[in-house]
Amino acid sequence: MSESLTIRRPDDWHLHLRDGAMLEGVLPESARHFARAIIMPNLVPPVVTGAQARAYRDRIRAALPQGADFTPLMTLYLTEETDPADVVASHRDGTIHAVKLYPAGATTNSASGVRDFDRVRPTLEAMAEAGVPLCVHGEVTDPEIDIFDREAVFIDRVLDPIRRATPGLRVVMEHVTTSQAVDYVRTAKDGLAATITTHHLVINRNHILAGGIRPHYYCLPVAKRETHRRALRAAATSGDARFFLGTDSAPHPDADKESACGCAGCFTATNTLSILAHVFEEEGALERLEAFTSLHGAAFYAMAPNAARITLRRRTAPLSLPARIATGAGPVTLFDPGFPLYWEVAE
Ligand code: DOR
Ligand code: ZN
Repeated sequence: MSESLTIRRPDDWHLHLRDGAMLEGVLPESARHFARAIIMPNLVPPVVTGAQARAYRDRIRAALPQGADFTPLMTLYLTEETDPADVVASHRDGTIHAVKLYPAGATTNSASGVRDFDRVRPTLEAMAEAGVPLCVHGEVTDPEIDIFDREAVFIDRVLDPIRRATPGLRVVMEHVTTSQAVDYVRTAKDGLAATITTHHLVINRNHILAGGIRPHYYCLPVAKRETHRRALRAAATSGDARFFLGTDSAPHPDADKESACGCAGCFTATNTLSILAHVFEEEGALERLEAFTSLHGAAFYAMAPNAARITLRRRTAPLSLPARIATGAGPVTLFDPGFPLYWEVAE
C-alpha cells in the first residue's frame, strides 16, 4: 500500500465561487489545493459579456488569500442575445477560456439560459471557428421527461444535433452522471470531453432518498442509480484523456439547502482530493489520479500542466474535517462521503 503520492498540482475544470461574502468564504478552500479553475458564470445576474467577466475576475483576485497561487479561468454565460464578436474577442485577449451553455430552467440561476438552440447558432459557429470551448449543462428541461432521464435525452435531442451541425466545436459535457453520457463521450471522434464530479463518484440516488431525505446530497444533474456511478468510476479511473475532474463544488448557505425547496449543489472544494485519492485507491488506480486531476483537463484546454506539485499522505488516524465552514453568507456544509478519509494533502 502506498503511503504517499506526489502529483502535479490539480486544476478544477468546473467550479462555482459565487460572489461577495460567499466568494470570500469559499475561495480559500479551492485555492489551497488547486492551481486553476474554470469559473462558472451563473451569478445573479449572470456573467454575459467580456467586460463582466473581467470585473468578476478582478473580484476573485481581490478575494484571494495573501500568497495564494490560484488562477481563475473565466467563462461567459451563453444567452440568445450573446454577441459572437464579444465571445471571440474575449477569448482572443485571454479574458475567457470557455462559454457555458445552460438550457433555460435546467438548474440554479439558469433562467437566462437558452430556450431556442437555433438562436445561438451564430455564436456556436464563431466559437468553432475561433476554437472557444463550449461547456454544456446536459439536461433537457421538458417537464414531460423524468428527471433521472434528462441527461440521456439531452444527448439525443440537443447535444448530438449541435455537434453535427457545428463541426469543429470543442465541447465539454459537464458533470456527467450516466453510462449513456460516458458511452457517448467514448465513442465520439474528437472535440468532445467530459468532466466528472467528486460527489458523483461517491453517491447514487439512494444516498439522497433512502432512510430520509438528505438535502446536502441533492445536486443537478441528480445522482443516478448505482450502475451509473460504477460507469463514472470506470471512466474516471480508466486513464482515458477525455475524462477529467470538474468538481462542480457549488456552495449554498445551509438555510437554502435545508428548506422545503432546497437548492441543488454539493460543496466539495475542501475535501475533494482526499475523497478522490480514496476512490482511486479503492479502484486500484491511484497511479492514474494525477492524469484525472492534473493532466487531462489541461491538455483539452491546450494549457501546460502545472509545474508545482502537491503531496498526498496517508494518515493512520482518519482526517477530521469540520462538518461545515463559516462564510459571511452563512454556514456551508461540506460534502460528507460517508466513509473515513485517510489521504491528506500535505501543507
Ligand atoms: O448542483 C448544481 N449546483 N448543479 C448545477 O448545475 C448548478 C449548481 C449551482 O450553481 O448551485
Ligand atoms: Zn455547476
